[in-house]
Amino acid sequence: MPVIQTLSELEEFKKSHSDQRPWGLVPTMGALHQGHLSLIEKAAKENALNFVSIFVNPTQFNNTNDLQSYPQTLASDLDTIQNVAPKACVFVPSVELMYPKGLQVRSYNFLGLDNGMEGLYRPGHFEGVATVVERLFKLLSPSIAYFGEKDFQQLKIVELIGAKMQVDIQACPIVREENGLAMSSRNQRLTATQKEQAAVLYHILKKVKAAYGKISLEELHQIAVQAITPLPGFSLEYFEIADNQTLKKVEDYDISAESRAFISVWVDDVRLIDNMLLI
Ligand code: PAJ
Repeated sequence: MPVIQTLSELEEFKKSHSDQRPWGLVPTMGALHQGHLSLIEKAAKENALNFVSIFVNPTQFNNTNDLQSYPQTLASDLDTIQNVAPKACVFVPSVELMYPKGLQVRSYNFLGLDNGMEGLYRPGHFEGVATVVERLFKLLSPSIAYFGEKDFQQLKIVELIGAKMQVDIQACPIVREENGLAMSSRNQRLTATQKEQAAVLYHILKKVKAAYGKISLEELHQIAVQAITPLPGFSLEYFEIADNQTLKKVEDYDISAESRAFISVWVDDVRLIDNMLLI
């Protein structure tokens, strides 16, 4: 399985594989789990050639501790990719290759998609994501790229970049642990007990989905507050119901539009997010 680290290797690889276009791309930050693998497997089924990128993007971390503690498991990631998609080409660029002019982000108009939730609680995060995704699209020239609904707000923002750069963005469903906890590289930092308790995010979302349209929006919010408050070390950062397309906060029930519930919870110093389509 080819593993490419430099620009010259990449140029050579692209030239010698141009007959295998259109190419797919699965961008990741490594520490791969079954959620990532579902994207890689889907790409492998759909395209003759796929790039899987592994790059822990410094500009999207608004918290130095989160960046420093982000799990890095390159050797086992390469083994994993080799097992599920031996024909993939893995791109593991350096910071210098991704940011030749230093760690600068571009500025964007995300059409309000970044106004709430992650955009509000992680200032600068989406500029970092969009800058790195744009750079990956430019370097690797994919026709199709795969992103998970786990990071739904990111997916919507990446769709804007895809539209601008003619890359078809494929949305992939959230993969969960048996107990319902959405898989995430950050779950590695939870204790076994916390992992069990963290299934509460999924249970809140399911309960909210079942009650949606039947009780007030404030009562739905209380479902989240009441489930999180008693758990030691857990604190609710946000619970929000937003329009599934525009991500505008739902202030009143509107059954003619699709809505999605979003939640962010701190478990000690680990931040977990999840979301679910309501109707
Ligand atoms: P990362 O968190 O590594 O995730 C890579 C891709 O895997 C994203 O599209 C994410 O939504 C998807 N993913 C993660 N957990 C998932 C799960 N449980 N089920 C389904 N898909 C899941 O997201 C990033 O990296 C970065 O922001 C990146 C896009 C690579 C830019 O740096």
